[in-house]
Amino acid sequence: MPRFDVTIAGELNLDLVLYGLPPELQPERELLASDMNITLGASSAIVAHNLAALGNRVGFASRVAEDSMGRLALERLIEAGVDVSTIRRSTDGARTGVTVILHHGRWRNILTYLGTISRLAIEDLDFDYLSSARHFHLSSFYLQTTLRPHIPALFKRLKAAGLTISLDTNDDPDDRWQGGLWEALPFVDLLLPNEREAVKISGQENVEKAAARLSETVPLVVVKLGAAGAIARSDSKLFRSPALRVDAIDTVGAGDSFDAGFISRYIRGADVETCLAHGNLAGALSTSRPGGTEAFRDREHREQFFRDQPLVSQPAPRADSPG
Ligand SMILES: Nc1ncnc2c1ncn2[C@@H]1O[C@H](COP(=O)(O)OP(=O)(O)O)[C@@H](O)[C@H]1O
Ligand SMILES: [Mg+2]
Repeated sequence: MPRFDVTIAGELNLDLVLYGLPPELQPERELLASDMNITLGASSAIVAHNLAALGNRVGFASRVAEDSMGRLALERLIEAGVDVSTIRRSTDGARTGVTVILHHGRWRNILTYLGTISRLAIEDLDFDYLSSARHFHLSSFYLQTTLRPHIPALFKRLKAAGLTISLDTNDDPDDRWQGGLWEALPFVDLLLPNEREAVKISGQENVEKAAARLSETVPLVVVKLGAAGAIARSDSKLFRSPALRVDAIDTVGAGDSFDAGFISRYIRGADVETCLAHGNLAGALSTSRPGGTEAFRDREHREQFFRDQPLVSQPAPRADSPG
């Protein structure tokens, strides 16, 4: 049996979220927030954290600076049970990345210092470590600018080693959707964009057409639709799964949490409907607390949330246990 269920190579940072700000941010004034939260950020790190919280054995390869932000981010991963033994320390002067989120209720300002986020290099990755898993996941294709040119070849090698591969591109800050994505897609088994991303990547006008176009290249395409849940397309079959009805207080990291819930079931050979239900369950859980990992960190809250959801039986069992 491989050492891990899932390995992930990607970025790690912290999110500093400020709530209850005045509607207008006047320059040179002391503006007060009514609440704040410092939480594990970065799509890759959130997927790793939440996969581990759901009972999976996760190995995370990344690069982080020797600073207090980096230490705190690593602590959060370790607490969740993620293996961080191969994470590299940057010595090139880049600090650990940070995202400042100004939460204005219905919308947010999102300000990111990339720092080490974009510095992960192919040389930082230990292939034997990454391939000692059943499945490999990559997030934030367009933030990983140093690694990106090597991703198609990395996917090809991992597939040849017998792993299945999932990809969540997340947004492209340049909005060009190029950069070798289409060279990487033929090696991807499971693509996990949101609605906007699916439309942009495929160049189609709506989400159904986007899923159909992408599924010509990727065996299973899953498109996240926020409060409308998600659809999946496999060959010519289309699946729909509604979101859970919850009082969403913060959707930061919901898409990454969906990925964790979906992958948890996918790697155990569950059918598409079951995977979708678990994706939506994990996405909804994420929205019940600020940030992408807070609801998963609190074990009691997480288990109560799962008990309260009638449609979905249990959180994922360990991969080595039957069922
Ligand atoms: N208001 C909501 N109520 C219930 N579930 C939600 C809500 N918003 C998001 N989700 C869940 O989180 C998933 C991901 O959300 P989405 O915003 O589409 O992704 P991303 O964060 O990648 O943009 C959705 O598919 C759904 O399962
Ligand atoms: Mg996303």
